[in-house]
Amino acid sequence: MSRKPAFTSFSETTAEDWENIFSEQASMYTELPNRIIDHLKLLKGDFSGFPVDRLNHCLQTATLAQEADESEEHVVCALLHDIGDTLASLNHADLAATILQPFVSEENHWMVKHHGIFQGYHFFHHIGLDRNMRDQFRGSPN
Ligand SMILES: [Fe+2]
Ligand SMILES: [Fe+2]
Repeated sequence: MSRKPAFTSFSETTAEDWENIFSEQASMYTELPNRIIDHLKLLKGDFSGFPVDRLNHCLQTATLAQEADESEEHVVCALLHDIGDTLASLNHADLAATILQPFVSEENHWMVKHHGIFQGYHFFHHIGLDRNMRDQFRGSPN
């Protein structure tokens, strides 16, 4: 049973308070995968002008990665690459990359963070952007 903390600012906290906080947060961490899946499901039915909804797009992307014999981590990155669409509609790749960062390699984090610029080669010229924006990363170690 947790006790109600008495502090009103960080400066008033004690080691016992922080032990309690970390204990309480443990369930937050263990439930993280379920929250991510729940959030991924929010993409169901959101077509936004595309022929498949965003959830199916994510599933298709992960399936392609799996069929290409990519690592499990890469497949998870593919599955979650657009999970930021609902909350970070203007910078969704950044949100997905931030969620994944503690759990994936620097290379896969970079891939998720920059996926929009690389896929832009196929359509940026239709929306007034430079389809070769990806060229800024030529020579990048990732
Ligand atoms: Fe995306
Ligand atoms: Fe995507």
